[in-house]
Amino acid sequence: MKRIGILTSGGDAPGMNAAIRSATRAALYHGLSVVGICRGYQGLIEGDMFEMTSRSVGDIIQRAGTMLRSARSPEFTTSEGQKKAVWHLEARGVEGLIVIGGDGTLKGAKALSDLGIPTVGIPATVDNDIAYTDYALGFDTAANTAVDAITKIRDTASSHGRNNVIEVMGRDAGHLALAAGLAGGAEYILIPEKPFDIQKICDGIQKGYARGKTHSIIVVAEGVGGYSGPDESRYDSVGFIIGQEVRERTGLETRVTVLGYIQRGGTPTRQDRLLGTMFGSKAVEALIQGDTGKIVGISGEEFRMFDICEVVATRKPINEELYRVATLLSEM
Ligand code: F6P
Repeated sequence: MKRIGILTSGGDAPGMNAAIRSATRAALYHGLSVVGICRGYQGLIEGDMFEMTSRSVGDIIQRAGTMLRSARSPEFTTSEGQKKAVWHLEARGVEGLIVIGGDGTLKGAKALSDLGIPTVGIPATVDNDIAYTDYALGFDTAANTAVDAITKIRDTASSHGRNNVIEVMGRDAGHLALAAGLAGGAEYILIPEKPFDIQKICDGIQKGYARGKTHSIIVVAEGVGGYSGPDESRYDSVGFIIGQEVRERTGLETRVTVLGYIQRGGTPTRQDRLLGTMFGSKAVEALIQGDTGKIVGISGEEFRMFDICEVVATRKPINEELYRVATLLSEM
């Protein structure tokens, strides 16, 4: 293998830049040339690429977002779009590809792998919903941002004696809500993986007040309901729906905060920079060794390769132990 391409696709995640930097420099170290593909699969379809050098990736390890930019590409989900992508890779002499992103991105990586392009995926999504790997890039930074926000909201919640509903990201998954809610000391954490009874929650809040609580925090993953999708005109935040229910059923003053895109920005944490750096260089080594059609992941302390077909076919389970403790504490 002489030449590889790198792209980032889907929702950006802190740590992507660390992975781009590491993959680029590791590839150059091993004597490969590197093509940066702009705007994910959409840029690939359009042939939007440039030659990368060691200097192209200087001064980015500390920045969230992605220097290669990102996009969601409906065209790439079609076989015509995928053929165009393969054509551009072959025309540029790109023999191996590293794709960095979440669930949809890794499904795209599988499609390219099935079309004969040696591909390695790097999991990157604040949702942390990629199976087999303990962590995806961006999760740790986003969870810390959410905990910081919950802490700030808690200050004003306790001053005013209010309920506060805080909606965090997580389109189909509650990993972020669970981690941030537990670390932020939320009374209730609502996630798509677990059914909940809103009346029981309201009764619990009222019992808490009867026991002497002066405020309560309810963390809600955006994926528990409402509508979140590409048609922005139809966006209804589930946080506001839950907030309205709680207000009406308890008669208590209830405020709502949707954390939204602040969770995708900010300085990447040590963990996301370290994971990005390790994932990037491991992905290059996997390409060189022909260990493709895989994703790089971390399991405990160990960096491992996982089969991409199994990864995209599996829903990552939530940590039941975290959920059990969250439920137990909500009673007290
Ligand atoms: O998948 C990551 C994520 O941040 C989700 O939590 C969120 O629902 C979605 O991306 C938002 O996507 P977009 O940037 O396209 O609005």
